[in-house]
Amino acid sequence: MTHLIAGNWKMNGSPASAKTLTSGLAAKVSAGVKAEIVLCPPAPLLAEVAATMGSGALTLGAQDCHANEKGAHTGDISAVLLKEIGCKFVIVGHSERRADHGETDAVVKAKAAAALMAGLTPIVCVGETEQQRERGETGAVITRQVQSSLPENATAANTVVAYEPVWAIGTGKTATTADIAAVHFQIREVFSALPGGAGAGALRILYGGSVKGSNAQAILATAGVNGALVGGASLDLDDFWRIIEACP
Ligand code: 13P
Repeated sequence: MTHLIAGNWKMNGSPASAKTLTSGLAAKVSAGVKAEIVLCPPAPLLAEVAATMGSGALTLGAQDCHANEKGAHTGDISAVLLKEIGCKFVIVGHSERRADHGETDAVVKAKAAAALMAGLTPIVCVGETEQQRERGETGAVITRQVQSSLPENATAANTVVAYEPVWAIGTGKTATTADIAAVHFQIREVFSALPGGAGAGALRILYGGSVKGSNAQAILATAGVNGALVGGASLDLDDFWRIIEACP
C-alpha cells in the first residue's frame, strides 16, 4: 500500500507562502516520489494551491466540509463545491473541530457521508485526550469514535482514518510506536466489523501528532501505519519533504 502523507496547514499561510511551499514541493516531487501527498490549506488558499501544484503527484484536500450539499449555512463549505474545485480529500472530525465547534461523532459521520456522496475521500480523525488516556479510556474512546464517526458506506477503498492522540498534537510529544501499532490494530479490527468493513486490511490509517522529519522514519515504519497527517511540520518545505522521504 502506498503511504499517504497529508499536510494539514490548519489556519496558517498566505497566498504568497502557499505559492512558495506548493511550488517547492511540486519541484521536488517531479523527480519521483514513493508517497501520495495531499495538501490541505485553509479554504481561501485552495485555488492558489490547485493552480500551483500542477498535475503531478500532489493532490488537494480541504480541512472540513458541511454535511449538507448546499443551502443557508453561512460560512460553511459544501463537499460538492470542494470536489468541483479539484479537491480529492477532506479532513473531517479533527479534534480541533470537535473541541472548537462542538462536533459530535454524529456530526462527523454526517460530514463524512457528505464527502463520500460528493466523491471525496474523507480523512476521518479519531483520538483520545490526555485525560481520557490517563483514565485508561483510550481503547473505549477509539472504538466509539470509529463505530460512530464512519458512515455505513465507508469502505477501505473510499475512506481514510487518522489516529491523532489529542495530547500529541502540537506538543512535540508523540505516542510510542508500540502504542501507535496497538491503536492502529484496534482501529482496523473495529472497522472490519462495520457494514463496509470487508477488506479492512487495505484501509489506510494515518498517524498524526507532532510528526516531523526527525521521528517520521520510525513512525512510518510502524506496523499498521499507512501514512501521516502532519500539522506544523507541513508548513516547512524541508521538514515536510523529510517526512515524505521517510516513507518505506
Ligand atoms: P502537529 O503535527 O502540529 O502536531 O498537528 C497534527 C495535526 O493535528 C494534524 O492534523
